[in-house]
Amino acid sequence: MYSDFTYYTPTKVVFGKHADEQLGALVKEQGAKKVLIHYGGGSVERNGVLKRVEDALAEVGVAYIKLGGVVPNPHLSLVYEGIDLCRKEDVDFILAVGGGSVIDSAKAIGYGVANGGDVWDFYDFKRTAQACLPIGAVLTISAAGSEMSGSSVITNEKTGTKRGYSSHLSRCRFAVMNPEFTMTLPEYQTMSGAVDILMHTMERYFNQSDNMELTDTIAEGLMRTVLKYARVLLHDPDNYEARAELMWAGSLSHNGLTSCGVEKQDFATHKLEHELGGMFDVTHGAGLAALWGTWARYVCHAAPERFVRFAVNVMGIEPQADKAAVIENGIRAMEDFYREVNMPTNLKELGVTPTDEQIEEMAERCVAACGGPAGVVVPLYKEDMIKIYMQARG
Ligand code: NZQ
Ligand code: ZN
Repeated sequence: MYSDFTYYTPTKVVFGKHADEQLGALVKEQGAKKVLIHYGGGSVERNGVLKRVEDALAEVGVAYIKLGGVVPNPHLSLVYEGIDLCRKEDVDFILAVGGGSVIDSAKAIGYGVANGGDVWDFYDFKRTAQACLPIGAVLTISAAGSEMSGSSVITNEKTGTKRGYSSHLSRCRFAVMNPEFTMTLPEYQTMSGAVDILMHTMERYFNQSDNMELTDTIAEGLMRTVLKYARVLLHDPDNYEARAELMWAGSLSHNGLTSCGVEKQDFATHKLEHELGGMFDVTHGAGLAALWGTWARYVCHAAPERFVRFAVNVMGIEPQADKAAVIENGIRAMEDFYREVNMPTNLKELGVTPTDEQIEEMAERCVAACGGPAGVVVPLYKEDMIKIYMQARG
């Protein structure tokens, strides 16, 4: 049975080499009077994107202030700083210039300003947001998909707790996507981004329901496209077509398109990775790559048809009577891809060596963050999570 679904994507996407030329008009269209330009650790200063954004706002006469310093796995302390700043300066629109971390930080600031009280309450499941300041994004990395997603992931750096909060309220009003802006990315970030994009679709593709054929076909095409163009970027990082394919895949992978008709999404690898991010501050996509193979081997027995389909339709494995061999070859082919693009396939390669105690703590936190078991292919309890982290140590 196909699940009923609501597909809601209110974000206006302006895509291409000249996308940023429309930025001023887009901000004006939102009726913004005072904008907070929010950005990260300096890449947008060095590559000129921030200057183009400032010029665009100046041209249409919209006032702005700036707050940089967002780090990957964005910190709650900067969110608090942003909330205070927006209140003091009467900011009525936030423009996130960067990637998932900057957009997520902007969303958290937006919640904080519009709701009052402690914004962490939303990430700690204590309250539900009723409003959010309007947000726009100028995307500089193809990865998290936050430019079209309803979620925001923030790290309380004092406790090492990384949590996500989702609501339609924070969905970006617009996303300006110029693939050229991603050309200054270091290879590690480009490839971590590619893994994250693949994972957002895999988390929806691997489940226990009968997916719609159309959804599966879109998902498989999206994954094949990412595999193809990540390989192109490995040798030709300035290839515009490849940058464009990855950028659009990043948005479509996490805007709900590949979950239409899917009964329940898995997202266990993501949940397990968020704990790694909170404790060891690893790059999100690389952390996913380090865990995925172990997760896949742990759960594939529970959805063999899905794993066979993935092996054949996505990884190009030759079908044969021995299904277990097809499944293993499919998982191995994805791991080979990770290695090819210099991504890790276990925690050791990721550069982290958690102790047994740290693994126990991550599992405990993961259960708390999920409010129970993680995932649907096989619902993972604390003991399962511990086994996966242990097996993934390498
Ligand atoms: O900080 P700067 O100097 O800008 O450098 C960034 C950062 O170090 C750099 N970068 C970005 N664009 C660049 C660039 N460097 C050179 N040239 C450019 N054009 O890349 C690094 C990573 O940036 P970040 O924003 O952290 O990357 P990403 O988009 O992968 O976001 C990761 C965060 O998003 C969360 C992750 O957990 C992580 O915290 N996620 C958010 C989701 C959502 N909101 O829907 C879903 C995801 O599953 C994910 O959990
Ligand atoms: Zn992700």
